[in-house]
Amino acid sequence: MKKLILLTALCALLVSVAAAVVTAAAKNDKQTGLAIDKGFETVKMHCTPCHSAKLITQNRMDRQKWLETIRWMQETQGLWQLPPKTEKEILDYLEKNYAPLKRFRRAPLDTKWEE
Ligand code: HEC
Repeated sequence: MKKLILLTALCALLVSVAAAVVTAAAKNDKQTGLAIDKGFETVKMHCTPCHSAKLITQNRMDRQKWLETIRWMQETQGLWQLPPKTEKEILDYLEKNYAPLKRFRRAPLDTKWEE
């Protein structure tokens, strides 16, 4: 009887792991690899005609740096002017999905060296 309970628990665990993997995969657009979230369509429309979305997905920046990157492309790479509402939507999306991974860093060790 115990074995059966254990087996059932194991199956439940496997199913939830599989479900988590499937949901994680479904969160990215198959074609571009971009995270599917609010603003995704706008980013796909404005940010993938010139280069692969990989330039976005491989980068992580804060909002200010994303804005600077957009300005740099506008000044030197022929990126068109984005209406303020569109630009905000794009920045919101980038800030949320491609921010620096600070959260996953451990706090610095508080090491005190003996003199
Ligand atoms: C008009 C064309 C064009 C559009 C549209 C465009 N880019 Fe770019 N972008 C470029 C060019 C050209 C480069 C330089 C590519 C290279 O170095 O190979 C670049 C580079 C980048 C880089 C790398 C910057 C670096 O420092 O290496 C990022 C990130 C980026 N683009 C993001 C975006 C985002 C986000 C958007 C949408 C708002 C966008 N791009 C839309 C032309 C464009």
